[in-house]
Amino acid sequence: NHLERLRNRASFIANSCKEIRDRYDQKEDGLYYLTTANGGVYQTFCDMTTAGGGWTLVASVHENNMYGKCTVGDRWSSQQGSNPNWPDGDGNWANMVTFGTTDGATSDDFKNPGYYDIVAEDMSVWHRRFLTIYGGNLHQLFKLYPVRYNAGACGNTGPAIPIMYDFGNIETTRGFYGPNLRNQFEPGFITFRPINNVRAAMAICSGVKPIPNTRCDTEHYCIGGGGHFPEQAPRQCGDFPSFDWNGYGTNTEWSSSKEITEAAVLLFYR
Ligand code: G3P
Ligand code: CA
Ligand code: CA
Repeated sequence: NHLERLRNRASFIANSCKEIRDRYDQKEDGLYYLTTANGGVYQTFCDMTTAGGGWTLVASVHENNMYGKCTVGDRWSSQQGSNPNWPDGDGNWANMVTFGTTDGATSDDFKNPGYYDIVAEDMSVWHRRFLTIYGGNLHQLFKLYPVRYNAGACGNTGPAIPIMYDFGNIETTRGFYGPNLRNQFEPGFITFRPINNVRAAMAICSGVKPIPNTRCDTEHYCIGGGGHFPEQAPRQCGDFPSFDWNGYGTNTEWSSSKEITEAAVLLFYR
């Protein structure tokens, strides 16, 4: 029965959902306990059904208040304003701080020890074996490519990896972002550490790759960031940096759709 299954889960010792799948033959989505290299135990959601399963939820990025510009809740950029003397912002892309809850992951920021503890090959719905070459997780990747104001210029973007869609497609991805932007990115990729035309760094462009030698207004379609966004500061500073430039959820000019503005971006490893 149900309780029996949960009791059983508490006895598993594994470092990732992939290991739970392989070692204990679990095929059910749900919460499982994982054990870190240090012996710490935490609980997280395992997706055991998508594309063979074994996916560990390690983080989520959510914009709790589009009108707050690098204020409380902007954990993936800065909670202390837009400030060139605080170029890394909160620094959570490359540190070992954890926050949030598994149940709250779709409605608030979330980061668990798996983010830095699991050494993975793939990420989320993007089934490509690219993490290995960047150190096995995002924690290592963002040490190589700091999410830091002034770390580089437009064109010093980090890796862009082709994605495979489980849901949606190239056209639905294009439509999430403002019409003024649709000729400056190419859908079908996940891109790390983009930099805009005034040297503000972001962390992830979910679903697109900025095209080199275009305007590089990545603040309207990439998420997370360092501690300073110079253009009309602090107007573009935040976890979903400038998704609201021409109004909240309007999907006109530079503004994103309401759908993507209100989404949580869930990051899984395998
Ligand atoms: O990212 C958009 C900004 O750089 C230009 O905005 O309002 O002058 O068209 P605007
Ligand atoms: Ca947030
Ligand atoms: Ca701009």
